[in-house]
Amino acid sequence: MAGFASFSCVLLISSVLLASYACASEVELDYSSIPIEAGLSWDFHDSSCPKLESIIRKELKKIFKKDIGQAAGLLRVHFHDCFVQGCDSSVLLVGSASEREAPPNKFLRATAYEIIDDLRELVHKKCGRVVSCSDITALAARDSVFLSGGPDYNVPLGRRDGLSFATTDETVKNLPSPNNNTAVLIDALALKNLDATDLVALSGAHTIGLAHCSAFIDRLYPTQDPTMDECFAADLKKDFCPSEDSKNDNTTTTVEDIRTPDKFDNKYYVNLVHRQGLFTSDQDLYTDSRTKDIVARFAVNQELFFEQFAKSMIKMGQLTVLTGNDGEIRANCSVKNSDNIKLKTVLEEEEAAAELK
Ligand code: HEM
Ligand SMILES: *[C@@H]1O[C@H](CO)[C@@H](O)[C@H](O)[C@H]1NC(C)=O
Ligand SMILES: *[C@@H]1O[C@H](CO)[C@@H](O)[C@H](O)[C@H]1NC(C)=O
Ligand SMILES: *[C@@H]1O[C@H](CO)[C@@H](O)[C@H](O)[C@H]1NC(C)=O
Repeated sequence: MAGFASFSCVLLISSVLLASYACASEVELDYSSIPIEAGLSWDFHDSSCPKLESIIRKELKKIFKKDIGQAAGLLRVHFHDCFVQGCDSSVLLVGSASEREAPPNKFLRATAYEIIDDLRELVHKKCGRVVSCSDITALAARDSVFLSGGPDYNVPLGRRDGLSFATTDETVKNLPSPNNNTAVLIDALALKNLDATDLVALSGAHTIGLAHCSAFIDRLYPTQDPTMDECFAADLKKDFCPSEDSKNDNTTTTVEDIRTPDKFDNKYYVNLVHRQGLFTSDQDLYTDSRTKDIVARFAVNQELFFEQFAKSMIKMGQLTVLTGNDGEIRANCSVKNSDNIKLKTVLEEEEAAAELK
């Protein structure tokens, strides 16, 4: 169950800080000045799969028309992929003790994995097995942002897929917890060459999507976090997190952005300014002196947020990528090729696609 109708008391004050409405648009970035990892390029698939980006966008448009929530699921998968062992699609692999099964990935949406593999199938039917699941995941994340109302931006391409997944320990170590404060998050992101501005901008992804009570219950029980707006806390307790036992509730969810839950905009920062951020990791960004001003600026200037979000996503999307002859191009995003008994069929598919060209 997801809902926000009950947040009526917070909506009353929602328009105080609004900057002018900005349309979803391509942000103006000087792509020539953005650092690109060796082996990646903006036009990597221009001749090998010219329709790649339109195939993905068209399909996702159809999917989101039915359920815009899928955008949040796809965006989060890209983040969880990149933070653990780099953007190599390791999170997509099935297997015992896989990344997928590690606690921080417990609530990644099963549908997100399915959508990525369906996109892969569409792309490979058209172009042959030339585009990695990692590139497809990065493009799906970009389109999730854009099709939810956020900025459009270019994604450097040429990633290859990893041959193994990380251990549970590595997965836990590399993914931040919602209970962590800004100091911890700044240190954690610094290990990935992401700075405080990247942290604030990337956290803005919580402008869409859902969360389970377990992620913020420590802010409600046994004592209520004084940095949380009382009215907001009361609404959360009433409808989503009625008792300490709610931490075991794996089905009830609440929206992450009470103002515009499905729209990718800067209201996440407006929430923080009103002490209506859901996680400690969110709200503390408006407490810590290193990040408070950045939050305040994004809350009144959506364009500034969009531009920085695009830059930070391009950065995050290049974390420890495999390129060239490293890794492989998976024929099925959930399994590495040598474990894929259906690979032969896929090779035949590829030949058929080549003949069609
Ligand atoms: C900075 C540290 C971050 C922490 C601690 C964090 C933590 C979380 C948690 C606990 C949830 C809710 C999971 C659940 O209970 O179901 C969540 C959801 C989400 N996160 Fe983050 N996150 C962080 C950064 C990011 C980044 C960088 C992105 C993407 C760029 C992102 C995108 C999302 C999205 C879209 C959702 C909603 C997922 C859905 O509805 O399926 N998060 N995050
Ligand atoms: C981050 O939060 C997790 C989960 O609550 C906790 O185990 C960990 O110690 C925190 N990290 C730091 C460095 O405090
Ligand atoms: C929720 O998931 C956890 C861990 O996967 C499990 O221990 C717990 O029993 C589940 N709770 C419910 C209510 O299903
Ligand atoms: C991909 O692999 C998964 C896991 O083995 C399997 O369930 C799925 O059917 C495969 N998909 C295709 C299109 O072969």
